Amino acid sequence: MTRFSPLNFFSTVSTQNHAAALQHPIFSYVAKTAAQTGVQAYVVGGFVRDYLLNRSGKPDIDFVVVGNGIAFAEAVATHLPTRPKVQFFKNFGTAMLQFAETDIEFVGARRESYARDSRKPIVESGTLQDDQLRRDFTINALAISLNEADFGALVDPFDGIADLSSKIIRTPTDPDITFSDDPLRMLRAIRFAAQLQFQIDSSCFDSIKRNAHRIEIISGERIIGELNKILETEKPSVGLSLLYDAKLLELILPELTALNQVEEIEGQTHKNNFYHTLEVVDNISRNTNDVWLRWAALLHDIGKAPTKKFQKKQGWTFHGHEYVGSKMVKKIFMRLNMPLNQKMKFVQKMVLMSSRPIVLAQDIVTDSAVRRLIFEAGEDVESLMTLCEADITTKNKIKFKKYHQNFELVRQKIVEVEERDQVRNFQPPVTGEFIMETFGIGPSREIGIIKEYIKEAILEGKIANDFEQAKELLFKKAEELGLKQHTNE
Ligand code: CTP
Repeated sequence: MTRFSPLNFFSTVSTQNHAAALQHPIFSYVAKTAAQTGVQAYVVGGFVRDYLLNRSGKPDIDFVVVGNGIAFAEAVATHLPTRPKVQFFKNFGTAMLQFAETDIEFVGARRESYARDSRKPIVESGTLQDDQLRRDFTINALAISLNEADFGALVDPFDGIADLSSKIIRTPTDPDITFSDDPLRMLRAIRFAAQLQFQIDSSCFDSIKRNAHRIEIISGERIIGELNKILETEKPSVGLSLLYDAKLLELILPELTALNQVEEIEGQTHKNNFYHTLEVVDNISRNTNDVWLRWAALLHDIGKAPTKKFQKKQGWTFHGHEYVGSKMVKKIFMRLNMPLNQKMKFVQKMVLMSSRPIVLAQDIVTDSAVRRLIFEAGEDVESLMTLCEADITTKNKIKFKKYHQNFELVRQKIVEVEERDQVRNFQPPVTGEFIMETFGIGPSREIGIIKEYIKEAILEGKIANDFEQAKELLFKKAEELGLKQHTNE
């Protein structure tokens, strides 16, 4: 083998026996089953890759057997002390079980190709090498033997070790075949490159560009699975830029790539909001691991493409882009089969409010403006501040410092106002029931008017968030509305 790195790190690893990797209790049961049934078994894929990279935290273990994967899984299950239930997909020849808090998957070695227009495979059983050849990348095609004759031996017919060593993502066979078998692998290539800080081999990347359009046959859920993993990396712009260069991003999130333009009218330009967004996502990723807040950063400016206007006096404007953007969030979530739940509402809210603290920080920070911010953002006020600070990408050092200082001021004010007025989980100090009882009225327009009046007075700082002061105001407003206090006589 000549493809090892100058460090020759993995060349020593490759000749070693890897029995040390096989600590998980499942391995002895699989080895025992292999010995008893005479079926060859190997651990393969991400487990082997991550072991060789010294990465931890892999939640599942994949086995390939030269024979029937489902029957083998059933045999393993009978040996296990927990007797887990085996789930299987006959069409794919795969079986799953859970053991020692780990998802375990078995597959029979296959030669396989997929029909061009679906993921439905045409499966034929094959050798271990046939199976390795049809896996996505050489670094994921490494197998370790669990068989008596060579327990712990590494089986690496496609130089996966060399690619691990030189940090290369490459397909075991012609990439056009690999990607046509399962177009999701194009996203996986980019995800692994971003996660592991590897390079995608150039002919492999050219193939991704050629085949990008085939991502259309992949479900939103699978696409989002990979996109989330890219967003969860330390510096998401790496994966996002690769997606852009591969022409995949314009198919998955055209709303985002629409931001990649700079127009000039009468000598005035606006910033490139696509590259700005990538910077914001990287900035926020230093301060939060919350993938939904990272999504909010990714989508915070999408309303800017449809709202962009050039006006003689003002120059470039994006009026209402936050509102338009928050509506677009829902469409994107629907299109990509993402959860239409509180997470989506959170992203919408962040996009809708994304300019609020910035406006605050540019001005004199008043108590009432801060009170309103806390009232409207509620529980999410810290997330909103994190988003808005990440949004500061000015290259002007003086402005950069000033904005950050102002944000510090806003943060301090939030703490002060919050301590004093407790408007974050605002509960009106006088309730609708109290108003109805006091004035002997039923549900009516007046109740809404009074409650709004009291809320506004609290937010403006005219009264404290307190029952006695609110009651006083209630009587004043009720009198204006012609309501008379109710007595029981
Ligand atoms: N695989 C593949 N093509 C896919 C998905 C998976 O060839 N589209 C193969 C690879 O050999 C991969 C193995 O199946 O290593 C297991 O897949 P999976 O668990 O999805 O990924 P891992 O590589 O284990 O990595 P991760 O858990 O980080 O996703």
